[in-house]
This record gives sequence, C-alpha cells and structure tokens, in this order.
Amino acid sequence: MAEDLSISKGTKEEQYELLIPQIEGLLTGETDLIANMANVAAALKEQFSWFWVGFYIVKHNELVLGPFQGPVACTRIRKGRGVCGTSWSEAKTLIVPDVEKFPGHIACSSLSRSEIVVPIIKNNEVVAVLDVDSEHLNYFDETDQKFLEKIVDLINF
Ligand code: SME
Repeated sequence: MAEDLSISKGTKEEQYELLIPQIEGLLTGETDLIANMANVAAALKEQFSWFWVGFYIVKHNELVLGPFQGPVACTRIRKGRGVCGTSWSEAKTLIVPDVEKFPGHIACSSLSRSEIVVPIIKNNEVVAVLDVDSEHLNYFDETDQKFLEKIVDLINF
C-alpha cells in the first residue's frame, strides 16, 4: 500500500468518490482498530482540511476521545450530552448548522461553528461516533452524511 494520499479538487461528491477507494486501501489487511481509525481521521483531514475530525469510542457507558486530527479536545462525553452524546443516544447522524443553536453543545473549541456526528453501529449498538467540526457555519449537508456513513461502515469493529 502506498502511504501517499492523492488529494482531489472537484466537487464534494467527487472528492469523496476519489477518497473512498483510498480509504479502503488503507484499511485492507490491517485489523488494528486504533490504527484504522487514525488513518481514516488523517485521510479525511488531508482531503478536506476540516477544523477537527476524529472518533469518540464508547467505553464503560461514556464516549472517550479516540484518534483525531485537529486541536486538543474534550476527552469524555456522557450519553445524551452534546452533539456526540445525542448522536449516540439517538443512534443517528446529526447535522448541526450552527452549534450555538444546539442545546447542550459541548464547545471543545470556541472556533467550531458547525458540526456533523455520525454514529458507528455494530450489532445494533453504537460503538463509536465520528465527529467533524468546521470553523464555518452551515458547512455540512446530506452529501457529507451519505459519504461519511459509508466511510465509517468500512471500519471493522
Ligand atoms: N462539540 C462536540 C464535542 C466534541 S468536539 O467538538 C471535538 C459535542 O457537542 O458533542
């Protein structure tokens, strides 16, 4: 496997379409979960230059910070708290166009303005969430949801 990512510059759809096979390549033959989450976070950060992208993993009924790219972040989030904890308790993707309007949003950084959180579900249980933050308002949409849900599905938990 070549470790260099080929960065594309088309529409958002085209960027995801070109990135997904590369992510599949990165994951193929590697069974270590942390290594795989780390490379997925890095690949997404390299392609999209988002402010923050990373994983929170369910451990002992809390979300605990996992592999990520971006500024330091909160380490633990309880179920139902913030965008991540709500995505976990509702087991669904949440797109938040303006984090200040989301009741209970956890501000790890005051620079974050919008967010998408995708739960990772195995055997009907949320085992982790992928969290992406932007410093721009209204940055994420259904296209991100569709492709990020596909990407987290590629990770073997
Ligand atoms: N804003 C998130 C917390 C995690 S950080 O953004 C990295 C939330 O409300 O759950």
